[in-house]
Amino acid sequence: MDPEVTITKTLIGPDAIAKRVEQLGRQISEDYKGESLYICCILKGAFIFTADLIRHIECPLRVDFIRLASYGSGTNTSGKVKITKDVELPFEDCHVLIVEDIVDTGITLKFLVDRLKLHKPKSVRICTMLDKRSRREIEVPVDYVGFTIEDGFVIGYGLDYAEHYRQLPGICVMEAP
Ligand code: IMP
Repeated sequence: MDPEVTITKTLIGPDAIAKRVEQLGRQISEDYKGESLYICCILKGAFIFTADLIRHIECPLRVDFIRLASYGSGTNTSGKVKITKDVELPFEDCHVLIVEDIVDTGITLKFLVDRLKLHKPKSVRICTMLDKRSRREIEVPVDYVGFTIEDGFVIGYGLDYAEHYRQLPGICVMEAP
């Protein structure tokens, strides 16, 4: 059973998402023309976005997955990040593109960027579907943003509440009971 929540509105519908993802894919293809990419998808939230995005990227690419968890639960990041599933492919000498669902405080991405850079890739850039810009606590350069949104907890298009609601086709604002 899904936990009971109140979905207050659909913030971004499936058509708007599809259009924006295509634009992002086109932009990335232009920026990396003649290069190949190592896509690092952050599980679990970015799996749908990554699947849609890579089908609009024309340069050669490999996809890898990492799972990061912040200690704690509910709707707030605790500030401490750990890897619960590491990447598997080598990415030294690669152009790394991190694909994330949402940047909130920036703590998760800062942790990941610093860690990936230890392997000295050619470059590291970030592509996020959503950016809660006003919530940022740590500055992290985000190169590609689908949509900038206001504060508020969102679910759908891969984003969860307590592991539920990832399958919603649009991005919705919710309130926990
Ligand atoms: P940050 O480290 O604070 O930037 O948190 C990023 C992570 O928190 C994302 O990858 C999501 O897993 C989670 N997160 C932050 N805001 C939301 C939200 O509104 N809905 C669902 N997950 C969120």
